[in-house]
Amino acid sequence: MTQAKHLKLGLFLRPCGHHIAAWRHPQGTPDAGLNHRHFVRIAQTAERGLFDMLFSADSPTAYTAETKGLERSHYVAWIEPFTLLSMLAGVTKNIGLVCTASTSFEEPYAVARRFASLDIVSDGRAGWNVVTTGNPIAAENFSREPHLPKAERYRKAREFLDVVLGLWDSWDTDAFVRDQASGVFFDWSKMRELNHHGAYYDVRGPLNVPRTPQGRPVIVQAGASEDGRELAAETAEVVFTAHETMASAQAFYADLKGRMAAYGRAPEDLKIMPGLFVVTAPTESEARAKFQTLQDLIHPEIGVSLLERKMGVDLSGWDVDGPLPEIPKSAVLSSRVDQMVEAARREGLTIRQLYQRFAASRGHFALVGTPVQVADEMERWFKEGAADGFNFMAPVFPGGLDDFVELVVPQLQRRGLMRTAYDGATLRDNLGLKKI
Ligand SMILES: Cc1cc2nc3c(=O)[nH]c(=O)nc-3n(C[C@H](O)[C@H](O)[C@H](O)COP(=O)(O)O)c2cc1C
Repeated sequence: MTQAKHLKLGLFLRPCGHHIAAWRHPQGTPDAGLNHRHFVRIAQTAERGLFDMLFSADSPTAYTAETKGLERSHYVAWIEPFTLLSMLAGVTKNIGLVCTASTSFEEPYAVARRFASLDIVSDGRAGWNVVTTGNPIAAENFSREPHLPKAERYRKAREFLDVVLGLWDSWDTDAFVRDQASGVFFDWSKMRELNHHGAYYDVRGPLNVPRTPQGRPVIVQAGASEDGRELAAETAEVVFTAHETMASAQAFYADLKGRMAAYGRAPEDLKIMPGLFVVTAPTESEARAKFQTLQDLIHPEIGVSLLERKMGVDLSGWDVDGPLPEIPKSAVLSSRVDQMVEAARREGLTIRQLYQRFAASRGHFALVGTPVQVADEMERWFKEGAADGFNFMAPVFPGGLDDFVELVVPQLQRRGLMRTAYDGATLRDNLGLKKI
């Protein structure tokens, strides 16, 4: 496999930031969820930092009571991502615009039409994060109950994708002749009806949007299960993923790229981008102090409920600054949780210290250090088969992104790991993906 010269960078949007206490930070933006100007500043900063794309995750449900522990979070309610990206298309020029749309709750015709239109208004910068939506509560917002089991969700997703890709091929690039003299607006021979009839969808087509600047928007996914990986190996061009260690990222990378040959695809046709949470400052002690400021802002109730959910225990009545009570080893706990509990005992961590450790990066790769330390680790992951790039998670917006763009991006450029100007006009060009 040929190694790309430059690593890819996505900016994982989240209203106030990716740290669980981001909204409480003195330099944070607590009203980010309705402050669209805040996102303009973020998008323009990311573009100044030559990021490949903005990425907005989404679930068509407010995270409230059922996700106890997040109920006070800034992620409960914010601007619908497609609307946000459409607005950001007008105030940016080069950066890609990727957001989520669910194959469980949307209709393929509507999704194909929306993303094709985003590709047009952004001059070729659109991408669709194809998700099946894990959160079962969403079904209750869409007159569907219960949520389909995962294997079936992925079968439906596969058919959904077929329909969308088919609709994007409704028109040849030169179908619209618009010949004023002859009165011929489009060439009927360059239009295709889809006439799809499948297990889940019946869609006639053609799409009422012409072929887009990228041919078709970029297909992004983030599945991790067997079904999710198989769908990605066959259809994804970018995959987001979460790994705390390089070994786990390398195993995922090798596994997913290894599945592609069966679909006649080359490993380069898919870019794997693990999440990367970074707190950086000119010196290590400053970076650590910055991080600790955030950690200390985690409300004890939120931190404790997070641990309770992870460990399946009731910690009410225990002093957060005291040691962890006896926790029975149980089959329901994951081995990772068992390891955390063992580490807490070994290191004599208090309940507060333990939830701080759990809460920081939500299972993603986390780095706290100088720009050189951060760049060293990014380089290692990139060069040693763990990542084609990263989905950058600022702990707090806008400051965490400003730090990364000012301090880390120049480090990466000096090492020849990042571009010094955008490569091309479209997201496909910048990601080095096949033209369609
Ligand atoms: C960086 C990242 C972003 C994700 N974004 C979304 C999202 O926007 N909406 C969603 O429902 N799931 C999202 N997911 C969850 C995945 O789509 C997927 O369901 C999850 O990784 C579990 O994999 P599985 O579905 O194969 O079990 C995301 C996962 C990651 C790692």
